Amino acid sequence: MWWRGFEAAGRRCFSRAHRSWGKTAPAVDGGEEIDLTEKTTAKTFSALQAERHEQAERTILISCPSNISEKKFYKYLSSYGTINKYFFYEGFIDEQLYTVCKEYQITEENTRLRFLVCSLVKDIAAAYFPECSIRPFGSSVNNFGKMGCDLDMFLDLDSISGRNNTKTGGVFSMEYETKRVASERVATQSTLSVIGECIDQFAPGCTGIQKILNARCPLVRFSHQPSGLQCDLTANNRIAMRSTELLYIYSNIDPRVRALVFGVRCWARSQGITSNIPGSWITNFSLTMMVLFLLQKRNPPIIPTLDQLRDLAEAEDKYVIESHDCTFVSNNKIKPSQNTETLEELLQEFFEFYGNFAFNQMSINIRKGKEQHKPEASPLYIQNPFEQALNVSKNVNQTQLEKFVTSARESAWILQQEGIKRPMSNTKPWGLAALLLPTMQSSGGKSKKKRQPASERIKSLLDSLKANKETTGYLNRSNGGRRHICTVAW
Ligand code: GTP
Ligand code: MG
Repeated sequence: MWWRGFEAAGRRCFSRAHRSWGKTAPAVDGGEEIDLTEKTTAKTFSALQAERHEQAERTILISCPSNISEKKFYKYLSSYGTINKYFFYEGFIDEQLYTVCKEYQITEENTRLRFLVCSLVKDIAAAYFPECSIRPFGSSVNNFGKMGCDLDMFLDLDSISGRNNTKTGGVFSMEYETKRVASERVATQSTLSVIGECIDQFAPGCTGIQKILNARCPLVRFSHQPSGLQCDLTANNRIAMRSTELLYIYSNIDPRVRALVFGVRCWARSQGITSNIPGSWITNFSLTMMVLFLLQKRNPPIIPTLDQLRDLAEAEDKYVIESHDCTFVSNNKIKPSQNTETLEELLQEFFEFYGNFAFNQMSINIRKGKEQHKPEASPLYIQNPFEQALNVSKNVNQTQLEKFVTSARESAWILQQEGIKRPMSNTKPWGLAALLLPTMQSSGGKSKKKRQPASERIKSLLDSLKANKETTGYLNRSNGGRRHICTVAW
């Protein structure tokens, strides 16, 4: 549900105006909000109070379904009288999700640190491969990364060997030749083995080197002590780089994409659905695919399918890697969605959709934006968007899938309880906290099985939300031209 606050030029004049809880704030017509601090410092306390009272007399608060166009709604109301100022705000859960995203996103400094570590590793690798590059991929750069996530890197030799080099490199170009080996995979394994050795012997601050060369995607794992980053170095992994760019593009189409992915990732972690340790858990990458799929299936869709992104592509966007079509348009050509659903509604949809999804028969496919019959019997089948014969969630077993479905159903149920959507008392968690800390959920609820105590990570998340409790603030976000003024409370 969206709330719209309108301040009339004269006295309140709309006949079916709804006086309700909530706060109002002045906003400049169709422009930026006034900086309240600057504007009010010069005023006396009583003058300010009087002004606020007078504003309130001229203000109405209207709640309306999210499928009503703001523009039309505003036009309709304007026909009853001049509207001086107006603002929109969404529910508390929306605001909490944006807060989670803001508090947990990788900071600018941390991003720089990640690129710096890549550069240091490049200096080591350059002993064998002069002019190679080490590029970060995955959540460090796809806009879905949380502080503390691992640093995925790949050794890029292709960009200097001339095969995929689009830059003009001057008169000379360099090409590496490997001794004849059985396969490209074997060449990748030996390259990584040598570089892993160098990192172990010579790279300052790099400890705990593990060569995991028999994995589907061979890698060298180590910890970079000075930055505190856990690093995974791969080679010959251009498709992962391309899927990183795809996620980055999706994250920029609409601000709800990023906030929902962050929220779902936090939720999954708090429920013990995901883990740092590799195993049969659902990964963050698979969860992201699930959120994207849901957003493609909304009516109207919030994001396009991958096939639609490919159809929009122009010649310079064409990209084929090892015969896999990795073509898609860059995001500045993608039109914003007309969908106006709130994050709260989308979160609810996520839990209901996946709480009832026919996982035993159907697969998830962001290329088509449609579920399809599973080609094989893995409990969870999420088609790899580029290597279409592969399942990105092949590692997930039936137990882990059932855990996910049970948690989704429980969370859908919790979200349906009206009482948890806004603060009712100081002691009970509400909104997102009720999902992240379900043990503290209203004791009057149905009998639920006992859960694990909250992890330290979730406690700190709640602390960061609490820190905003006094901020009955006016937060202006860019959201496809929409403005929101939200009250953050605990
Ligand atoms: P976190 O590290 O958990 O924050 O997320 P992440 O997105 O970085 O995931 P991860 O480190 O597991 O993988 C890094 C990147 O590799 C992902 O973002 C994807 O681009 C790619 N990737 C991961 N798993 C798969 C997979 O099963 N198939 C394919 N094609 N790519 C994958
Ligand atoms: Mg990662």
